[in-house]
Amino acid sequence: MNKPLPVIIDCDPGQDDAVALALAFSAPEIFEILGVTTVAGNVPLNLTQRNARLVCEICNRSDVEIYAGCDKPMKRELVTAEYVHGQSGLDGIDIYEPEHPLEKTHAIDFIIETLMAADDNSITLIPTGPLTNIGTAIAKEPTILPKIKEIILMGGAAKEGGNVTPSAEFNIYVDPEAADIVFKCGRPIVVMSLDVTHQVLTSRKRLDRIRAIGTKTAKMMTDLIAFYERYDEEKYHTDGGPLHDPCTIAYVLKPGLFKLKDINVTIETQGELTRGETVADFWNVTGRKPNVQWAYEVDDDGFFDLLNKQLKKI
Ligand code: BDR
Ligand code: CA
Repeated sequence: MNKPLPVIIDCDPGQDDAVALALAFSAPEIFEILGVTTVAGNVPLNLTQRNARLVCEICNRSDVEIYAGCDKPMKRELVTAEYVHGQSGLDGIDIYEPEHPLEKTHAIDFIIETLMAADDNSITLIPTGPLTNIGTAIAKEPTILPKIKEIILMGGAAKEGGNVTPSAEFNIYVDPEAADIVFKCGRPIVVMSLDVTHQVLTSRKRLDRIRAIGTKTAKMMTDLIAFYERYDEEKYHTDGGPLHDPCTIAYVLKPGLFKLKDINVTIETQGELTRGETVADFWNVTGRKPNVQWAYEVDDDGFFDLLNKQLKKI
């Protein structure tokens, strides 16, 4: 049997980040979670770190270490998304101050120290929020780069169009300078953009199926999703909302669910109208070398089968 994959999950919970964490927690034989680092994004940092600790508590993972990272983007003011996630970031469940501790070390130091101590090509980074922590760590200590095996991130949009501006997806929009560093870093990158996450919709039937699992965790996840999906349902006139962030974890658990293409993606940091656009050269019209694997299709029924199967385990 293979050894579990050492990962750092970098997130801004967020209901869909919470589902991503639960999915990762459900497979300890696959994920060795070295730490969960938190960043300002959906809501400010004091709430994202609290929410990550809360999710650990809900999922009975007292062993997972939570670190707080950057409280604002590298060069810009923070933009948040309470209009999607609610004031707490995890609206839909009862919120309380968890006992699960916050580590004292800053997330940037944790990321740098952990990577520096690791073998080359050994650590997988899974960012599901703005890329501020990862971009800052790379800028501060570029010698960590060879240690990164792969970066599997949720962010960006091409064919699907943006969700926060006509051309930009939230995570990249919030910190385009950090995204620019990450997309140029030269390490293998897998991108779960809106092109694919918008295919993973939490329809009524799918949600009922998760609720029917009957465990405390499954109920919490259903309550979170039920609150969260209303925003996108109204916006896109769909039955259900997209489960963006869990696509990253599902990709590790079952890569065959996704179709990917090697393409070049650059980040728009200057554009007045297009800040944070992932300029995705799907047809190689620029001749620029591919720097990411871009997911463009998913077996959505397969995704929900997987989610159900995994949530039964926790
Ligand atoms: C991304 O932005 C956040 O609202 C979600 O958590 C997800 O990471 C989708 O654009
Ligand atoms: Ca997120």
